[in-house]
Amino acid sequence: MKLIIDTDKKELKVEEENVTKVLDLYSKDSFELLSQQWLKVGWNEKYIYTFSWFGRPVIQLPEDMIRMQEVIYNIKTDVIIETGVAHGGSLIYYASICKAMGKGRIVGIDIEIRPNNRKAIEEHELYPLITLIEGNSIDLGIVSKVKENINSGDKVLVILDSCHTREHVLKELELYSSFVTKDSYIVVEDGIMENLYDVPKGKENWINDNPSQAARDFVKQHDDFVIEQPKWVFNESDLDKNITHWPNAWLRKIK
Ligand SMILES: C[S@@+](CC[C@H](N)C(=O)[O-])C[C@H]1O[C@@H](n2cnc3c(N)ncnc32)[C@H](O)[C@@H]1O
Repeated sequence: MKLIIDTDKKELKVEEENVTKVLDLYSKDSFELLSQQWLKVGWNEKYIYTFSWFGRPVIQLPEDMIRMQEVIYNIKTDVIIETGVAHGGSLIYYASICKAMGKGRIVGIDIEIRPNNRKAIEEHELYPLITLIEGNSIDLGIVSKVKENINSGDKVLVILDSCHTREHVLKELELYSSFVTKDSYIVVEDGIMENLYDVPKGKENWINDNPSQAARDFVKQHDDFVIEQPKWVFNESDLDKNITHWPNAWLRKIK
Protein backbone atom coordinates (compact mmCIF):
# COMPACT_ATOMS: atom_id res chain seq x y z
CA MET A 1 0.00 0.00 0.00
CA LYS A 2 1.14 3.56 -0.66
CA LEU A 3 0.02 6.40 1.59
CA ILE A 4 0.83 9.86 0.28
CA ILE A 5 0.11 12.73 2.65
CA ASP A 6 -0.33 16.09 0.99
CA THR A 7 -0.55 18.63 3.80
CA ASP A 8 -0.91 21.52 1.31
CA LYS A 9 -3.96 19.99 -0.36
CA LYS A 10 -5.11 18.44 2.92
CA GLU A 11 -5.43 15.06 1.21
CA LEU A 12 -4.39 11.50 1.88
CA LYS A 13 -3.82 9.48 -1.29
CA VAL A 14 -4.17 5.71 -0.79
CA GLU A 15 -2.85 3.44 -3.55
CA GLU A 16 -3.59 -0.25 -3.17
CA GLU A 17 -3.75 -3.02 -5.77
CA ASN A 18 -3.89 -0.52 -8.65
CA VAL A 19 -6.79 1.38 -7.06
CA THR A 20 -6.23 4.96 -5.92
CA LYS A 21 -8.47 6.70 -3.40
CA VAL A 22 -8.12 10.31 -2.32
CA LEU A 23 -9.35 11.03 1.19
CA ASP A 24 -9.82 14.26 3.05
CA LEU A 25 -6.74 14.31 5.31
CA TYR A 26 -8.82 15.67 8.18
CA SER A 27 -11.35 12.83 8.30
CA LYS A 28 -12.18 9.73 10.29
CA ASP A 29 -10.97 7.43 7.48
CA SER A 30 -7.62 9.21 7.25
CA PHE A 31 -7.22 9.16 11.02
CA GLU A 32 -7.81 5.39 11.11
CA LEU A 33 -5.44 4.62 8.22
CA LEU A 34 -2.67 6.87 9.52
CA SER A 35 -3.12 5.47 13.04
CA GLN A 36 -2.68 1.91 11.76
CA GLN A 37 0.58 2.93 10.10
CA TRP A 38 1.66 4.96 13.16
CA LEU A 39 1.13 1.86 15.32
CA LYS A 40 3.39 -0.20 13.05
CA VAL A 41 6.17 2.41 12.98
CA GLY A 42 5.86 2.93 16.74
CA TRP A 43 6.04 -0.82 17.41
CA ASN A 44 9.19 -1.09 15.31
CA GLU A 45 10.72 1.83 17.22
CA LYS A 46 9.79 0.21 20.59
CA TYR A 47 7.57 3.14 21.57
CA ILE A 48 5.78 0.97 24.13
CA TYR A 49 9.10 0.31 25.86
CA THR A 50 9.25 3.90 27.09
CA PHE A 51 6.52 4.08 29.76
CA SER A 52 6.24 3.37 33.46
CA TRP A 53 3.51 3.44 36.08
CA PHE A 54 4.28 4.41 39.68
CA GLY A 55 7.94 3.64 39.06
CA ARG A 56 7.68 0.29 37.25
CA PRO A 57 8.17 -0.19 33.49
CA VAL A 58 4.91 -1.09 31.76
CA ILE A 59 5.12 -2.48 28.25
CA GLN A 60 1.84 -1.16 26.87
CA LEU A 61 0.44 1.50 24.60
CA PRO A 62 -0.99 4.15 26.97
CA GLU A 63 -4.25 4.24 24.98
CA ASP A 64 -4.78 0.54 25.73
CA MET A 65 -4.18 1.18 29.42
CA ILE A 66 -6.80 3.93 29.48
CA ARG A 67 -9.32 1.63 27.76
CA MET A 68 -8.51 -1.07 30.33
CA GLN A 69 -9.11 1.43 33.15
CA GLU A 70 -12.55 2.21 31.66
CA VAL A 71 -13.45 -1.48 31.74
CA ILE A 72 -12.11 -2.15 35.24
CA TYR A 73 -13.96 0.84 36.68
CA ASN A 74 -17.14 -0.06 34.81
CA ILE A 75 -17.13 -3.70 36.01
CA LYS A 76 -15.70 -2.86 39.47
CA THR A 77 -13.65 -6.04 39.35
CA ASP A 78 -12.82 -8.02 42.49
CA VAL A 79 -10.01 -10.05 40.93
CA ILE A 80 -7.81 -9.25 37.93
CA ILE A 81 -5.69 -12.14 36.72
CA GLU A 82 -2.82 -11.33 34.37
CA THR A 83 -0.47 -13.80 32.69
CA GLY A 84 2.84 -12.12 31.83
CA VAL A 85 4.31 -9.88 34.55
CA ALA A 86 7.75 -8.81 33.20
CA HIS A 87 8.77 -5.69 35.23
CA GLY A 88 5.39 -5.59 36.97
CA GLY A 89 4.22 -2.22 35.64
CA SER A 90 0.87 -3.52 34.42
CA LEU A 91 0.21 -5.26 37.78
CA ILE A 92 1.02 -2.03 39.60
CA TYR A 93 -1.25 -0.12 37.21
CA TYR A 94 -4.21 -2.44 37.87
CA ALA A 95 -3.43 -2.37 41.61
CA SER A 96 -3.48 1.44 41.57
CA ILE A 97 -6.95 1.39 40.01
CA CYS A 98 -8.13 -1.13 42.63
CA LYS A 99 -6.68 1.00 45.41
CA ALA A 100 -8.47 4.08 44.06
CA MET A 101 -11.75 2.15 43.66
CA GLY A 102 -11.42 0.81 47.19
CA LYS A 103 -11.83 -2.78 46.03
CA GLY A 104 -10.10 -5.51 44.08
CA ARG A 105 -6.84 -7.44 43.96
CA ILE A 106 -4.46 -8.71 41.31
CA VAL A 107 -2.92 -12.11 40.55
CA GLY A 108 0.13 -12.06 38.25
CA ILE A 109 1.66 -15.17 36.68
CA ASP A 110 5.02 -15.32 34.94
CA ILE A 111 7.24 -18.22 33.91
CA GLU A 112 10.22 -16.28 35.23
CA ILE A 113 10.01 -13.45 37.74
CA ARG A 114 13.53 -12.08 37.74
CA PRO A 115 14.90 -11.38 41.26
CA ASN A 116 15.25 -7.62 40.64
CA ASN A 117 11.65 -7.41 39.34
CA ARG A 118 10.32 -9.51 42.22
CA LYS A 119 12.15 -7.32 44.75
CA ALA A 120 10.83 -4.08 43.20
CA ILE A 121 7.25 -5.42 43.07
CA GLU A 122 7.38 -6.81 46.60
CA GLU A 123 8.75 -3.54 47.96
CA HIS A 124 6.13 -1.44 46.14
CA GLU A 125 3.42 0.44 48.10
CA LEU A 126 0.76 -1.41 46.11
CA TYR A 127 2.17 -4.91 46.67
CA PRO A 128 -0.43 -5.71 49.39
CA LEU A 129 -2.99 -5.94 46.56
CA ILE A 130 -0.85 -8.27 44.43
CA THR A 131 -0.20 -12.02 44.45
CA LEU A 132 2.73 -13.26 42.34
CA ILE A 133 2.76 -16.81 41.00
CA GLU A 134 5.86 -18.09 39.20
CA GLY A 135 5.45 -20.80 36.58
CA ASN A 136 4.15 -21.64 33.13
CA SER A 137 0.67 -20.15 32.78
CA ILE A 138 -0.65 -23.30 31.05
CA ASP A 139 0.66 -25.67 33.74
CA LEU A 140 -2.38 -27.14 35.52
CA GLY A 141 -0.69 -26.74 38.94
CA ILE A 142 -0.29 -23.02 38.25
CA VAL A 143 -3.92 -22.70 37.11
CA SER A 144 -5.01 -24.37 40.42
CA LYS A 145 -2.95 -21.85 42.39
CA VAL A 146 -4.66 -19.02 40.51
CA LYS A 147 -8.06 -20.53 41.30
CA GLU A 148 -7.26 -20.48 45.04
CA ASN A 149 -7.27 -16.67 44.79
CA ILE A 150 -10.86 -16.43 43.58
CA ASN A 151 -13.78 -16.44 45.99
CA SER A 152 -17.33 -17.27 44.99
CA GLY A 153 -19.18 -14.13 43.87
CA ASP A 154 -15.99 -12.36 42.80
CA LYS A 155 -16.17 -10.39 39.53
CA VAL A 156 -13.18 -11.63 37.57
CA LEU A 157 -11.31 -10.13 34.61
CA VAL A 158 -8.51 -12.10 32.91
CA ILE A 159 -5.71 -10.54 30.86
CA LEU A 160 -3.42 -12.67 28.68
CA ASP A 161 -0.01 -11.10 28.07
CA SER A 162 2.50 -13.95 28.34
CA CYS A 163 3.71 -16.03 25.38
CA HIS A 164 1.98 -14.73 22.24
CA THR A 165 1.95 -17.80 20.00
CA ARG A 166 -1.48 -18.85 18.73
CA GLU A 167 -1.09 -22.25 20.40
CA HIS A 168 -0.16 -20.88 23.82
CA VAL A 169 -2.87 -18.21 23.84
CA LEU A 170 -5.47 -20.78 22.77
CA LYS A 171 -4.44 -23.01 25.71
CA GLU A 172 -4.61 -20.03 28.07
CA LEU A 173 -8.08 -19.20 26.74
CA GLU A 174 -9.21 -22.77 27.40
CA LEU A 175 -7.74 -22.79 30.93
CA TYR A 176 -8.60 -19.29 32.16
CA SER A 177 -11.90 -18.48 30.44
CA SER A 178 -13.88 -20.38 33.07
CA PHE A 179 -12.71 -17.85 35.70
CA VAL A 180 -14.30 -14.93 33.82
CA THR A 181 -17.65 -13.77 35.15
CA LYS A 182 -20.61 -12.77 32.99
CA ASP A 183 -20.22 -9.36 31.32
CA SER A 184 -16.53 -9.35 32.15
CA TYR A 185 -13.76 -10.11 29.66
CA ILE A 186 -10.78 -12.25 28.90
CA VAL A 187 -8.44 -9.84 27.16
CA VAL A 188 -6.10 -11.25 24.53
CA GLU A 189 -3.29 -8.73 24.21
CA ASP A 190 -0.89 -8.00 21.35
CA GLY A 191 -3.01 -9.22 18.45
CA ILE A 192 -1.24 -6.44 16.52
CA MET A 193 1.41 -9.09 15.69
CA GLU A 194 -0.89 -10.14 12.86
CA ASN A 195 -0.28 -6.74 11.19
CA LEU A 196 3.46 -6.68 11.88
CA TYR A 197 4.58 -9.51 9.60
CA ASP A 198 5.89 -6.99 7.03
CA VAL A 199 7.52 -4.60 9.53
CA PRO A 200 11.38 -4.70 9.69
CA LYS A 201 11.49 -6.15 13.23
CA GLY A 202 8.41 -8.39 12.75
CA LYS A 203 8.32 -12.02 11.60
CA GLU A 204 6.62 -13.42 8.52
CA ASN A 205 4.93 -16.28 10.40
CA TRP A 206 3.10 -13.78 12.66
CA ILE A 207 0.54 -13.38 9.89
CA ASN A 208 -1.00 -16.66 11.13
CA ASP A 209 0.73 -17.26 14.45
CA ASN A 210 -0.62 -14.54 16.73
CA PRO A 211 -3.02 -13.90 19.63
CA SER A 212 -5.77 -12.45 17.38
CA GLN A 213 -5.99 -15.73 15.51
CA ALA A 214 -6.26 -17.61 18.83
CA ALA A 215 -9.10 -15.30 19.92
CA ARG A 216 -11.03 -15.83 16.68
CA ASP A 217 -10.51 -19.60 16.84
CA PHE A 218 -11.62 -19.69 20.48
CA VAL A 219 -14.91 -17.85 19.99
CA LYS A 220 -15.82 -20.14 17.07
CA GLN A 221 -15.82 -23.03 19.56
CA HIS A 222 -17.27 -21.17 22.59
CA ASP A 223 -20.60 -19.46 22.12
CA ASP A 224 -20.49 -18.01 25.64
CA PHE A 225 -17.88 -15.49 24.46
CA VAL A 226 -18.03 -12.82 21.75
CA ILE A 227 -15.28 -10.54 20.47
CA GLU A 228 -16.58 -7.07 21.24
CA GLN A 229 -14.72 -3.83 21.79
CA PRO A 230 -16.03 -2.30 25.04
CA LYS A 231 -18.25 0.70 24.48
CA TRP A 232 -16.41 3.97 25.10
CA VAL A 233 -17.61 5.61 28.30
CA PHE A 234 -17.16 9.09 26.83
CA ASN A 235 -17.23 10.02 23.15
CA GLU A 236 -17.94 13.44 21.72
CA SER A 237 -16.30 12.55 18.39
CA ASP A 238 -17.38 10.56 15.32
CA LEU A 239 -14.60 8.06 16.00
CA ASP A 240 -15.47 4.60 17.25
CA LYS A 241 -12.45 2.27 16.95
CA ASN A 242 -9.71 1.76 19.50
CA ILE A 243 -6.23 2.70 18.32
CA THR A 244 -4.63 -0.35 19.80
CA HIS A 245 -2.02 -3.06 20.03
CA TRP A 246 -4.89 -5.36 20.96
CA PRO A 247 -7.18 -5.91 17.94
CA ASN A 248 -9.76 -8.66 18.57
CA ALA A 249 -8.69 -8.60 22.21
CA TRP A 250 -11.90 -8.15 24.12
CA LEU A 251 -13.74 -11.45 24.59
CA ARG A 252 -16.87 -10.67 26.58
CA LYS A 253 -18.57 -13.48 28.49
CA ILE A 254 -22.20 -13.21 27.49
CA LYS A 255 -23.70 -16.16 29.37
C1 LIG B 1 5.02 -8.86 27.23
S1 LIG B 1 5.72 -9.36 28.74
C2 LIG B 1 4.49 -8.87 29.91
C3 LIG B 1 4.36 -7.39 30.01
C4 LIG B 1 3.53 -6.88 31.15
N1 LIG B 1 2.21 -7.48 31.20
C5 LIG B 1 3.38 -5.38 31.01
O1 LIG B 1 2.29 -4.92 30.54
O2 LIG B 1 4.31 -4.63 31.36
C6 LIG B 1 5.56 -11.09 28.63
C7 LIG B 1 5.95 -11.88 29.87
O3 LIG B 1 5.41 -13.19 29.69
C8 LIG B 1 6.26 -14.12 30.31
N2 LIG B 1 6.00 -15.46 29.74
C9 LIG B 1 6.43 -15.97 28.56
N3 LIG B 1 5.98 -17.23 28.40
C10 LIG B 1 5.24 -17.53 29.51
C11 LIG B 1 4.53 -18.66 29.94
N4 LIG B 1 4.50 -19.79 29.22
N5 LIG B 1 3.87 -18.60 31.13
C12 LIG B 1 3.90 -17.47 31.88
N6 LIG B 1 4.59 -16.38 31.53
C13 LIG B 1 5.25 -16.39 30.36
C14 LIG B 1 7.66 -13.59 30.03
O4 LIG B 1 8.56 -14.08 31.01
C15 LIG B 1 7.44 -12.08 30.09
O5 LIG B 1 7.80 -11.57 31.36
